[in-house]
Amino acid sequence: MIRKRLWITRWLSDATLERAVRDYDVVINHEDTPGTADELIAASADFDAIIPCHSEHFSADVVAQFSDRLQIVANHSVGVDHCDLPALKTRGIAVTNTPDVLSDATAELAMLLMLGAARHAVAGDRIVRTGVWDSWSPAFMVGKQVTGARLGIIGMGRVGRAFAAKARGFDMDIHYYNRTELPVDQAQGATYHGSVESLLSVADFLSLHCPATPETTNLMNSERFSLLPQGAVMVNTARGALVDETALLETLTRKHLAAAGLDCFQVEPGGNPAFSEHDNIFMLPHIGSATRSTRDAMGFRALDNVDAFFAGKTPGDLL
Ligand code: DGY
Repeated sequence: MIRKRLWITRWLSDATLERAVRDYDVVINHEDTPGTADELIAASADFDAIIPCHSEHFSADVVAQFSDRLQIVANHSVGVDHCDLPALKTRGIAVTNTPDVLSDATAELAMLLMLGAARHAVAGDRIVRTGVWDSWSPAFMVGKQVTGARLGIIGMGRVGRAFAAKARGFDMDIHYYNRTELPVDQAQGATYHGSVESLLSVADFLSLHCPATPETTNLMNSERFSLLPQGAVMVNTARGALVDETALLETLTRKHLAAAGLDCFQVEPGGNPAFSEHDNIFMLPHIGSATRSTRDAMGFRALDNVDAFFAGKTPGDLL
């Protein structure tokens, strides 16, 4: 039987690549560089399936130039803001993502960012590492206590709920905004707010877990930052597009926001150079789902979706 041709745009986990090579006629991008628009267009003529990451951009313009061979885009990501879904649908191309399997890893990283931002991880690490730590006092590097504090979560999907579960271990008083109120068994005692504004007014800690869409672009802007309690801490492990970075810097500079923990930026890779001189911004390079077990699980989930599609079934994560 002729095997389906599959293009894997980035270097995925060894276990994923082994399974892919076993089951498909695979081309892997050994350079591990983001697939360009021209490469995507060329691939649409040579491959039946693509497993891309959020680094490949399936814009309407690119998709319009696709040939008819490509049948499925099985994303190795939960976020699909890099895909113009209506454009892909119009071309009859199936699109899937990898929900669930990365929720814990991403929630762990959100916890790390929240704790690190609250407790001066950037400055603390630097002064010890550079040998300039020469005094101690009870007034030294006093941070904001996480245990027992009020936490606001925007977006109570899988990752938001996984983060809430971890925050319960810190006895946090959990509040959330979501398009719809969760059933009791999912809310687990968290307090629902019917508007972002209402949530912000109680969020001593704020964590963003909603997708990037036209509606959520710059969700956190100057007006909304002002609604947070004085000295709040914000964490973003979702997408950079959710935060107006100029407004974020302004609110940090006037100390209304005490600190931020960011894994996502408007420009990636690279981040925002203006952030680097601010010790109260704890930053990581979009590694929320980057654990070994999660990378395997994401790769397998993407392959499960491709397998189902070519077996004539509906892929479990069809969007
Ligand atoms: C996701 O899955 O959306 C992560 O951001 C990694 O791409």
